[in-house]
Amino acid sequence: MEVVIVADAKAGGELIAEAMAQLLRRKPDALLGVATGSTPLPVYEALAAKVRSGAADVSRARIAQLDEYVGLPADHPESYRSVLRREVLEPLGIGLEAFMGPDGAAEDVQGACEAYDRELAGAGGVDLQLLGIGTDGHIGFNEPCSSLASRTRIKTLTEQTRVDNARFFDGDIDQVPHHVITQGIGTILEARHLVLLATGEGKADAVAATVEGPVAAVCPASALQLHPHATVVVDEAAAAKL
Ligand code: GLP
Repeated sequence: MEVVIVADAKAGGELIAEAMAQLLRRKPDALLGVATGSTPLPVYEALAAKVRSGAADVSRARIAQLDEYVGLPADHPESYRSVLRREVLEPLGIGLEAFMGPDGAAEDVQGACEAYDRELAGAGGVDLQLLGIGTDGHIGFNEPCSSLASRTRIKTLTEQTRVDNARFFDGDIDQVPHHVITQGIGTILEARHLVLLATGEGKADAVAATVEGPVAAVCPASALQLHPHATVVVDEAAAAKL
Protein backbone atom coordinates (compact mmCIF):
# COMPACT_ATOMS: atom_id res chain seq x y z
CA MET A 1 0.00 0.00 0.00
CA GLU A 2 1.28 3.41 -0.98
CA VAL A 3 0.38 6.35 1.28
CA VAL A 4 0.63 9.87 -0.12
CA ILE A 5 0.24 12.81 2.23
CA VAL A 6 -0.85 16.01 0.50
CA ALA A 7 -1.30 19.52 1.84
CA ASP A 8 -5.05 19.72 1.40
CA ALA A 9 -8.11 18.30 -0.35
CA LYS A 10 -7.48 20.32 -3.52
CA ALA A 11 -3.99 18.85 -3.88
CA GLY A 12 -5.41 15.36 -3.34
CA GLY A 13 -8.02 15.98 -6.01
CA GLU A 14 -5.40 17.18 -8.47
CA LEU A 15 -3.14 14.18 -7.81
CA ILE A 16 -5.91 11.63 -8.36
CA ALA A 17 -7.34 13.45 -11.40
CA GLU A 18 -3.86 13.34 -12.94
CA ALA A 19 -3.68 9.58 -12.29
CA MET A 20 -7.04 9.21 -14.05
CA ALA A 21 -5.89 11.37 -16.98
CA GLN A 22 -2.74 9.25 -17.36
CA LEU A 23 -4.77 6.03 -17.23
CA LEU A 24 -7.06 7.38 -19.96
CA ARG A 25 -4.03 8.17 -22.13
CA ARG A 26 -2.93 4.51 -21.84
CA LYS A 27 -6.46 3.12 -22.05
CA PRO A 28 -9.01 5.59 -23.48
CA ASP A 29 -12.01 3.38 -22.65
CA ALA A 30 -10.91 2.74 -19.06
CA LEU A 31 -13.66 1.90 -16.58
CA LEU A 32 -13.45 4.38 -13.71
CA GLY A 33 -15.18 3.40 -10.48
CA VAL A 34 -16.47 6.48 -8.71
CA ALA A 35 -17.65 7.19 -5.18
CA THR A 36 -20.13 9.64 -3.72
CA GLY A 37 -19.77 11.79 -0.60
CA SER A 38 -18.08 15.17 -0.18
CA THR A 39 -14.51 13.87 -0.28
CA PRO A 40 -14.22 12.97 -3.98
CA LEU A 41 -15.60 16.30 -5.23
CA PRO A 42 -12.15 17.91 -5.68
CA VAL A 43 -11.17 14.94 -7.86
CA TYR A 44 -14.16 15.44 -10.15
CA GLU A 45 -13.56 19.21 -10.28
CA ALA A 46 -9.88 18.73 -11.16
CA LEU A 47 -10.70 16.12 -13.81
CA ALA A 48 -13.36 18.37 -15.36
CA ALA A 49 -10.80 21.21 -15.50
CA LYS A 50 -8.38 18.89 -17.30
CA VAL A 51 -11.08 17.92 -19.79
CA ARG A 52 -11.81 21.61 -20.47
CA SER A 53 -8.13 22.41 -20.99
CA GLY A 54 -7.55 19.34 -23.18
CA ALA A 55 -5.25 17.67 -20.63
CA ALA A 56 -7.64 14.72 -20.22
CA ASP A 57 -9.84 12.94 -22.72
CA VAL A 58 -12.90 11.21 -21.29
CA SER A 59 -14.72 10.81 -24.60
CA ARG A 60 -14.42 7.00 -24.42
CA ALA A 61 -14.24 6.64 -20.61
CA ARG A 62 -16.77 4.48 -18.82
CA ILE A 63 -18.05 5.10 -15.29
CA ALA A 64 -19.15 2.55 -12.67
CA GLN A 65 -21.07 3.27 -9.49
CA LEU A 66 -19.89 1.93 -6.14
CA ASP A 67 -23.08 1.81 -4.10
CA GLU A 68 -26.70 2.95 -3.98
CA TYR A 69 -29.58 3.47 -1.60
CA VAL A 70 -32.38 0.94 -1.75
CA GLY A 71 -35.90 2.21 -2.19
CA LEU A 72 -35.24 5.70 -3.54
CA PRO A 73 -36.56 6.16 -7.07
CA ALA A 74 -33.67 6.50 -9.56
CA ASP A 75 -34.64 10.14 -10.21
CA HIS A 76 -34.65 11.08 -6.48
CA PRO A 77 -32.09 13.90 -6.15
CA GLU A 78 -30.15 11.97 -3.48
CA SER A 79 -30.10 8.58 -5.18
CA TYR A 80 -26.44 8.00 -5.90
CA ARG A 81 -27.29 7.63 -9.58
CA SER A 82 -28.66 11.21 -9.55
CA VAL A 83 -25.72 12.46 -7.49
CA LEU A 84 -23.20 10.94 -9.92
CA ARG A 85 -25.08 12.35 -12.91
CA ARG A 86 -24.81 15.81 -11.34
CA GLU A 87 -21.28 15.60 -9.96
CA VAL A 88 -19.49 13.38 -12.47
CA LEU A 89 -21.29 12.65 -15.74
CA GLU A 90 -22.62 16.11 -16.58
CA PRO A 91 -19.44 18.08 -15.70
CA LEU A 92 -17.34 15.59 -17.67
CA GLY A 93 -19.76 15.43 -20.59
CA ILE A 94 -20.15 11.64 -20.28
CA GLY A 95 -23.48 10.15 -21.38
CA LEU A 96 -25.60 7.63 -19.50
CA GLU A 97 -24.75 4.97 -22.09
CA ALA A 98 -21.22 4.89 -20.63
CA PHE A 99 -22.50 4.58 -17.06
CA MET A 100 -23.30 1.45 -15.06
CA GLY A 101 -24.76 1.09 -11.61
CA PRO A 102 -26.96 -1.18 -9.51
CA ASP A 103 -30.72 -0.70 -9.60
CA GLY A 104 -31.70 0.41 -6.10
CA ALA A 105 -35.37 0.53 -7.06
CA ALA A 106 -35.49 -3.08 -8.33
CA GLU A 107 -38.17 -5.38 -6.94
CA ASP A 108 -35.63 -8.19 -6.79
CA VAL A 109 -32.77 -6.42 -5.00
CA GLN A 110 -30.61 -9.53 -4.65
CA GLY A 111 -31.04 -10.21 -8.37
CA ALA A 112 -30.03 -6.61 -9.11
CA CYS A 113 -26.87 -7.07 -7.02
CA GLU A 114 -25.86 -10.25 -8.83
CA ALA A 115 -26.64 -8.65 -12.19
CA TYR A 116 -24.39 -5.71 -11.34
CA ASP A 117 -21.45 -7.95 -10.41
CA ARG A 118 -21.91 -9.75 -13.75
CA GLU A 119 -22.10 -6.42 -15.58
CA LEU A 120 -18.84 -5.22 -14.02
CA ALA A 121 -17.06 -8.45 -14.91
CA GLY A 122 -18.55 -8.40 -18.43
CA ALA A 123 -17.22 -4.87 -18.89
CA GLY A 124 -13.71 -6.14 -18.23
CA GLY A 125 -13.52 -5.04 -14.60
CA VAL A 126 -12.84 -1.67 -13.01
CA ASP A 127 -9.48 -0.12 -13.95
CA LEU A 128 -9.30 2.50 -11.20
CA GLN A 129 -11.68 2.57 -8.25
CA LEU A 130 -11.88 5.80 -6.30
CA LEU A 131 -12.97 5.34 -2.69
CA GLY A 132 -13.85 7.59 0.20
CA ILE A 133 -13.97 6.28 3.75
CA GLY A 134 -16.64 6.46 6.43
CA THR A 135 -15.77 7.63 9.93
CA ASP A 136 -16.16 3.99 10.98
CA GLY A 137 -13.79 2.74 8.26
CA HIS A 138 -16.46 1.69 5.77
CA ILE A 139 -15.79 1.68 2.04
CA GLY A 140 -18.72 1.86 -0.34
CA PHE A 141 -21.42 0.92 2.12
CA ASN A 142 -19.52 -2.04 3.56
CA GLU A 143 -20.04 -1.33 7.21
CA PRO A 144 -17.76 -2.74 9.94
CA CYS A 145 -17.81 -6.55 10.13
CA SER A 146 -18.62 -6.94 6.43
CA SER A 147 -16.95 -10.04 5.02
CA LEU A 148 -13.67 -9.18 3.33
CA ALA A 149 -14.69 -11.58 0.52
CA SER A 150 -18.19 -10.12 0.08
CA ARG A 151 -19.79 -9.57 -3.30
CA THR A 152 -22.29 -6.87 -4.29
CA ARG A 153 -25.26 -7.26 -1.96
CA ILE A 154 -27.85 -5.52 0.18
CA LYS A 155 -26.67 -4.09 3.50
CA THR A 156 -28.27 -2.32 6.45
CA LEU A 157 -26.72 1.02 7.37
CA THR A 158 -25.43 1.63 10.87
CA GLU A 159 -26.95 4.45 12.88
CA GLN A 160 -23.63 6.32 12.63
CA THR A 161 -23.65 6.28 8.82
CA ARG A 162 -27.29 7.38 8.71
CA VAL A 163 -26.40 10.26 11.06
CA ASP A 164 -23.37 11.15 8.89
CA ASN A 165 -25.46 11.10 5.69
CA ALA A 166 -28.51 12.95 7.07
CA ARG A 167 -26.93 16.20 5.87
CA PHE A 168 -27.85 15.18 2.33
CA PHE A 169 -31.51 14.73 3.37
CA ASP A 170 -32.24 18.18 4.89
CA GLY A 171 -30.58 17.02 8.13
CA ASP A 172 -33.51 14.65 8.72
CA ILE A 173 -32.28 11.16 9.63
CA ASP A 174 -35.78 9.76 9.09
CA GLN A 175 -35.39 10.41 5.36
CA VAL A 176 -32.12 8.43 5.13
CA PRO A 177 -32.85 4.94 3.80
CA HIS A 178 -32.00 2.01 6.05
CA HIS A 179 -30.89 -0.27 3.25
CA VAL A 180 -28.34 0.03 0.48
CA ILE A 181 -26.69 -1.93 -2.29
CA THR A 182 -22.93 -1.89 -2.23
CA GLN A 183 -20.18 -3.49 -4.22
CA GLY A 184 -18.74 -6.05 -1.83
CA ILE A 185 -15.24 -5.79 -0.46
CA GLY A 186 -14.28 -8.76 -2.63
CA THR A 187 -15.78 -6.99 -5.63
CA ILE A 188 -13.92 -3.76 -4.85
CA LEU A 189 -10.63 -5.65 -4.46
CA GLU A 190 -10.97 -6.86 -8.08
CA ALA A 191 -10.36 -3.35 -9.43
CA ARG A 192 -6.88 -3.03 -10.90
CA HIS A 193 -5.99 0.10 -8.91
CA LEU A 194 -7.66 1.24 -5.70
CA VAL A 195 -7.32 4.90 -4.75
CA LEU A 196 -8.73 5.96 -1.39
CA LEU A 197 -8.98 9.67 -0.61
CA ALA A 198 -9.53 10.85 2.97
CA THR A 199 -9.48 14.46 4.12
CA GLY A 200 -10.15 16.21 7.41
CA GLU A 201 -9.49 15.32 11.04
CA GLY A 202 -12.76 13.38 11.28
CA LYS A 203 -11.16 10.63 9.18
CA ALA A 204 -7.87 10.40 11.13
CA ASP A 205 -8.87 7.37 13.26
CA ALA A 206 -10.28 5.50 10.27
CA VAL A 207 -7.15 6.24 8.22
CA ALA A 208 -4.83 5.02 11.00
CA ALA A 209 -6.83 1.78 11.32
CA THR A 210 -6.80 1.34 7.52
CA VAL A 211 -3.08 1.88 7.07
CA GLU A 212 -1.50 0.73 10.33
CA GLY A 213 -4.11 -1.52 11.94
CA PRO A 214 -4.57 -5.24 11.33
CA VAL A 215 -6.49 -6.42 8.28
CA ALA A 216 -9.83 -6.94 9.95
CA ALA A 217 -13.49 -6.78 9.02
CA VAL A 218 -14.05 -4.34 11.86
CA CYS A 219 -12.29 -1.78 9.61
CA PRO A 220 -13.42 -2.65 6.06
CA ALA A 221 -10.93 -0.25 4.45
CA SER A 222 -8.05 -2.27 5.98
CA ALA A 223 -8.75 -4.78 3.17
CA LEU A 224 -6.79 -2.39 0.93
CA GLN A 225 -3.67 -3.84 2.57
CA LEU A 226 -4.43 -7.06 0.67
CA HIS A 227 -4.45 -5.33 -2.72
CA PRO A 228 -1.31 -5.29 -4.89
CA HIS A 229 -1.94 -1.74 -6.13
CA ALA A 230 -3.62 0.44 -3.52
CA THR A 231 -2.93 4.13 -3.01
CA VAL A 232 -4.17 6.04 0.03
CA VAL A 233 -4.16 9.82 -0.44
CA VAL A 234 -4.62 11.81 2.75
CA ASP A 235 -4.36 15.43 3.73
CA GLU A 236 -2.35 16.52 6.78
CA ALA A 237 -5.42 16.44 9.03
CA ALA A 238 -6.49 12.92 8.03
CA ALA A 239 -2.87 11.75 8.40
CA ALA A 240 -2.57 13.15 11.93
CA LYS A 241 -2.77 9.76 13.66
CA LEU A 242 -0.36 7.90 11.38
C1 GLP B 1 -21.01 7.31 2.09
C2 GLP B 1 -20.59 6.61 0.81
C3 GLP B 1 -19.10 6.27 0.85
C4 GLP B 1 -18.31 7.50 1.26
C5 GLP B 1 -18.74 7.95 2.63
C6 GLP B 1 -17.94 9.13 3.15
O1 GLP B 1 -21.23 6.41 3.12
N1 GLP B 1 -21.32 5.40 0.61
O2 GLP B 1 -18.69 5.80 -0.43
O3 GLP B 1 -16.94 7.20 1.24
O4 GLP B 1 -20.11 8.31 2.53
O5 GLP B 1 -18.49 10.33 2.70
P1 GLP B 1 -17.76 11.73 2.83
O6 GLP B 1 -16.70 11.71 1.80
O7 GLP B 1 -18.82 12.74 2.53
O8 GLP B 1 -17.22 11.81 4.21
